[in-house]
Amino acid sequence: MKKIAVLASGNGSNFEALVKAVRRQKIPAEVSLMVTDCEKAYARNRAERLGVNQLFLNPKDYSHRQDFYRKLTVVLKKEKIDIVVLAGYMRILTADFVKTFKNRIINIHPAILPAFKGVDSIKRAYQYGCKVFGVTIHFVDEQIDNGPIILQGSLKINNGESLNCLESRIHKLEHKLYPQALELLVNNRLKVKGRMV
Ligand code: GRF
Repeated sequence: MKKIAVLASGNGSNFEALVKAVRRQKIPAEVSLMVTDCEKAYARNRAERLGVNQLFLNPKDYSHRQDFYRKLTVVLKKEKIDIVVLAGYMRILTADFVKTFKNRIINIHPAILPAFKGVDSIKRAYQYGCKVFGVTIHFVDEQIDNGPIILQGSLKINNGESLNCLESRIHKLEHKLYPQALELLVNNRLKVKGRMV
């Protein structure tokens, strides 16, 4: 049984989708912890409702980000966490943290990488006039939205579709694909060679 920690900064809909999928689809894993860097993150309410242990680790309590990540590493190791899942986590990891959990940290990004890295990707792609949108799940390295790609999914924008409507369709796709990627990782079905997975 693999132990999973989810790191989330905000809404936490992917966190909830993962917890439910792991329970429903009998993925041999347990989401045993949700860690947030944001006191008011709605993900905390979800953790409470889902009965998942949660921890608010305040970056402001640490004068250097290295110290913050050292503390996080201690917490995750104490919990014997095998896999770290980023779900709307709005912080860049340190190289040491990435090294400690090498090829065991995954992230989801609401765009077809390498296009539209960074924040507000859906809105930027929408305003750019893109016709095809999507989702990428990838291993995490030291750079933003950069590591080897595990899964991608795409969808076409409908004529006259609003940004809101498009966003909610993309999030639905995220909630479907993220558990699939996690299942592959949990079952040791992913081999990484350079950028190839
Ligand atoms: C998702 O769109 C994810 O791809 C991006 O941040 C958003 C988080 O949403 N990294 P939620 O907090 O899981 O609802």
